[in-house]
Amino acid sequence: MQIGIVGTGQMGGMLARAFAETAPENVYVFNRSRAKAESVAADLTNVIVCDDWETLIERVDAVFLCTKGKDGLSLIKKLGPLLKSDQLLVTTISNIDLDRWQELTPATPVKLIPSLTQTIHRGVMLLSYPRDVPGPQKTELENRLCQIGKPLIVDEGQVRVCSDLASCGPAFLVAICQSWAQAAAQTGSLERSTAEMILKEMLIGLAALLDSGMQFDDVVEKIRVPNGVTDRGIVSMEDVPLRLFTRLHAETARYAQVGQRTSIPAPLPSSGG
Ligand SMILES: NC(=O)c1ccc[n+]([C@@H]2O[C@H](COP(=O)([O-])OP(=O)(O)OC[C@H]3O[C@@H](n4cnc5c(N)ncnc54)[C@H](OP(=O)(O)O)[C@@H]3O)[C@@H](O)[C@H]2O)c1
Repeated sequence: MQIGIVGTGQMGGMLARAFAETAPENVYVFNRSRAKAESVAADLTNVIVCDDWETLIERVDAVFLCTKGKDGLSLIKKLGPLLKSDQLLVTTISNIDLDRWQELTPATPVKLIPSLTQTIHRGVMLLSYPRDVPGPQKTELENRLCQIGKPLIVDEGQVRVCSDLASCGPAFLVAICQSWAQAAAQTGSLERSTAEMILKEMLIGLAALLDSGMQFDDVVEKIRVPNGVTDRGIVSMEDVPLRLFTRLHAETARYAQVGQRTSIPAPLPSSGG
């Protein structure tokens, strides 16, 4: 499958690198500011910078549109009609419905919500299809995505909450660890930087354990001795984590709805899908 990426910012740049690192085929890229596309191509001989998007779409089977929502909508009004019905329009823009994309192009639109973890070719990426996508096109896309992560097919209505887990998740977990390190430092026993180092190494070790097949329940069971100190710590949390994440999912859903109604990015610092 020949892949072209329009918009080589955080996500498009990461995807271009990951595709180029995992197969010898050329990956075609185009970015509004050319320097950003050239920096992606700098150390990868199979990343080809195109002069314009017209050249890119002629060469590829799947166009990955990885701009912010507003830029993507204005670009697709020009680019969309020129795509062919046997091409895929894969977009990382999550807050615009597949039906809306379909009105703007004869190509098949697909939503793809990547995660920063695809930098190291790991982690879940979400895929959402419209009805009636030809099986061979799906298979070809999914086989290619399997090389850079773990594609998970979800309904469009599941995209928001699953994005919170897969795509925003690393930022949410790190934000929690930063608060945890702050709380540890506030005990007066250690520096915050030491607490962050301990947490980072703990996370790396935990990820390796999970990768080796251990389940979440196994981890808790092996550490939580009844009436021991871990037990006391977990009891002390009460329902705070549940309330925290209930509030978080409600807020991201509210934000996504506002963005969809207005088609403008809402004023929060990180896009995260
Ligand atoms: N960041 C995440 O973790 C994440 C995760 C999942 C989904 N997403 C979604 O993925 C999309 C991209 O996010 P991002 O964080 O990668 O954004 P980003 O870093 O701002 O990248 C967007 C890129 O699109 C380029 N661009 C804008 N208009 C263009 C045009 N007409 N032609 C060609 N290139 C154009 C920009 O070029 P310039 O250099 O000229 O500005 C920029 O390099 C967003 O819709 C976001 O919601 C993001």
